[in-house]
Amino acid sequence: MSTGESSQQAGELSAFFKGDYVPLSQARVSVMTHALHYGTGVFEGIRGNWNEEQGVVNIFRLREHYDRLLRGTRLLMLDIPYSVEDLCRITVELVERNGHRQDIYIRPLVYKSAELVANLKLQDLESDFTLITVPFGNYLGTDLLRCCTSSWRRVDDPMIPARLKICGIYVNSILAKTEATLAGFDEAIILNHDGHVCEGSGENIFMVMDGRLITSPLEDNVLPGITRDTVIQLAQSELGLDLDERSIDRSELYLADEVFLTGTAAHLTPVVQLDNRDIADGKAGPVSSKLQKMYFDIVVGNNAKYRHWCTPAAPRTGGAALEENLPQHATPDIGA
Ligand SMILES: Cc1ncc(COP(=O)(O)O)c(C=O)c1O
Repeated sequence: MSTGESSQQAGELSAFFKGDYVPLSQARVSVMTHALHYGTGVFEGIRGNWNEEQGVVNIFRLREHYDRLLRGTRLLMLDIPYSVEDLCRITVELVERNGHRQDIYIRPLVYKSAELVANLKLQDLESDFTLITVPFGNYLGTDLLRCCTSSWRRVDDPMIPARLKICGIYVNSILAKTEATLAGFDEAIILNHDGHVCEGSGENIFMVMDGRLITSPLEDNVLPGITRDTVIQLAQSELGLDLDERSIDRSELYLADEVFLTGTAAHLTPVVQLDNRDIADGKAGPVSSKLQKMYFDIVVGNNAKYRHWCTPAAPRTGGAALEENLPQHATPDIGA
């Protein structure tokens, strides 16, 4: 089956589902699906940034996202027949087919697709891969964040490893984000089991103190963020800042010169208040502002030095794309 043969509404987005590009409305799973009941999947959040002059969506650090996704599949015994290269090709193809001319969010998901409940043995369950792309703007809804310290603690590695983007683990983030926003804050800062600062509900955290950049180490149950890695590289090579990856006490955040969050959805966003206390003068600090400006230029594809981090996808005009554009492994029967 190809998109051309499906009953697709004009203007409807496509999804990659069960090895094929199909209208989004036809990408449906059964209520028996294992991942729906137990959160047995791993996912990624990738941004594509529209560059008007270049006429392309620049997908940021696509390979690194799929490296992380495939690492996650090992723990959950999620078998899919795609390499990082295959997944990158499928993604560019879908973005081009969907014809986006705006910033987008790209959501790959590898999940236990077995229609089988009351079975907790990963080795018994077949897996599948699906991919959607949607228009996406400012995720946090503000440019300067007012945060609170969450009453929820981050899950610890021997419970569910936070270093992977496991679907079920996001209930932890969702409880924290819900609590924070219902209390009128923009985002939650989550502490780990021993009370050290971990991260936001969907972002890594940095602070600037006496000219040094400090971020929580991965062993504190932190997701190895791709934006985190990007910011570390830029801070060190472009701004010559020293970096400390070390546990952060809660009280240090209140006393920091600057605090900011990083994430694919959140970009780099300064935190100006924590638990109703201003951080420094309650404004975006100079390091955050410099890094943010550099980051925005890079992700949109305007910085030649870092263009290797951008994968361009040119929106197609004129309807459904051709069958021969399907990647070699993308046959309809895979994963079943
Ligand atoms: C819990 C958590 N921490 C950090 C991040 C930031 O990671 P990245 O920069 O790879 O998007 C995310 C987003 O994926 C996240 O969900």
